[in-house]
Amino acid sequence: MDPYEIIMKKRDGGELTNEEIEYIVTGFTSGDIPDYQMSAWLMSVWYEGMTGRERAHFTKTMVDTGVTLSYPRVSEKLVDKHSTGGVGDGTSLSLVPLTASFGVRIPMMSGRGLGHTGGTLDKLESISGFNVEFNQDEINELLNSVGALIMGQTGEVAPADKKMYALRDVTATVDSVDLIAGSIMSKKIAEGMDALILDVKTGAGAFMKEYDQAVELARAMVEIGVELGKDMRALITDMEQPLGNAVGNALEMKQAIEILKGQGPEDLTELVCRLCAEMLLMAGKFEEIEPAYEATLERIESGGAVEKLVEIIEAQDGDARVVEDYSILPGYTEEQTVEASESGYVTALNAFEVGMAAKALGAGRETMESDLDYGSGIKLDKKVGDRVEQGDILARLCYNDHSSNDSLDISPKQARQRLQKAYEIKTEPPSERQIIWARMDSTGEIEEVKE
Ligand code: URA
Repeated sequence: MDPYEIIMKKRDGGELTNEEIEYIVTGFTSGDIPDYQMSAWLMSVWYEGMTGRERAHFTKTMVDTGVTLSYPRVSEKLVDKHSTGGVGDGTSLSLVPLTASFGVRIPMMSGRGLGHTGGTLDKLESISGFNVEFNQDEINELLNSVGALIMGQTGEVAPADKKMYALRDVTATVDSVDLIAGSIMSKKIAEGMDALILDVKTGAGAFMKEYDQAVELARAMVEIGVELGKDMRALITDMEQPLGNAVGNALEMKQAIEILKGQGPEDLTELVCRLCAEMLLMAGKFEEIEPAYEATLERIESGGAVEKLVEIIEAQDGDARVVEDYSILPGYTEEQTVEASESGYVTALNAFEVGMAAKALGAGRETMESDLDYGSGIKLDKKVGDRVEQGDILARLCYNDHSSNDSLDISPKQARQRLQKAYEIKTEPPSERQIIWARMDSTGEIEEVKE
């Protein structure tokens, strides 16, 4: 086969055979196909797209370049969730214990934060001792004893994707539905789950700013999963403003515990319970969505979800006293407030700017090698729709002084500027936004949610 001909075929709108896709992906991963030819191929996919079959085979080929987890067969399905990422999105921290409290098995593989988005593993590691590295035997043991775990990547998962993403990043080919869908799904398929709920975000802080783009991405991922034998569903959810009232690692961990105690912010609690209800359906615990949703609220009320969190933290070597005593989480010594410069309604709260403000305080990373301050972050007193008077506190910068002793370079001044820019205040109230925009089933059928 000749890479030149495969690039030309895609450039001219042709449909590639499975063999041609394998040739390009494995050749690039091994180094036989150079970056300049792969860049041309990626750009031709960016323009011409892929068919459903091409996408699924592209994904499978990337999975096959690395390790795949496999579990001893148990009667229950292994269910997982993937979110396309956002700000203040600590959903997994409460979703995993809540869903596992119904006996659902969840082998969740998560990542670390980069840039304006946070990472589930960083948030969990704000708990003293919390371990996220396990080998296959330990994973099996935890699935059997506790039923759920949240872990980092074991071995090299989809190395083709890792190498390709680095090239896409510098060749303006990240924002292709085909390439994003293949990239995300390759990592989830390698994790070995049976069923997956996708939380596809839309809005200012999301990859897919427009609703229609988010639906398109959800459908592409659902189709790939189904083609590769998985049970799939998706929710299209709001990321116009950050979720919840906290952005930062320990701050979000505390908020997640509050959600499981029934004292969390309404928007994030709603999202967690809606995602949980979908997972309960996929695991066969319920047949209808509304009774499943009601059961999640009851489980929180009864304290069963927080008990499961204690079990997970203990099983992953963390200090579970944190559930009752937030003072053992990393904290902060400095607090500054940002006030409203005029009276009116908050009409926008740009999630990207809030994420960047938290990063400027040390809560996020510039590069994968950057240090983190687990205690720092932003608390949001006001969100979209809230009425404010001039001088009211909009948000708080929470941080530690790093001037004398370490390498962490923080800038409260920059964080303040970002936060001021993030808030828009107008005299008229904004139109209502909702948390869940739509549900998609495994056929790609979409049902808009009216709240
Ligand atoms: N996240 C991924 O893992 N891959 C993409 O291509 C985009 C977002």
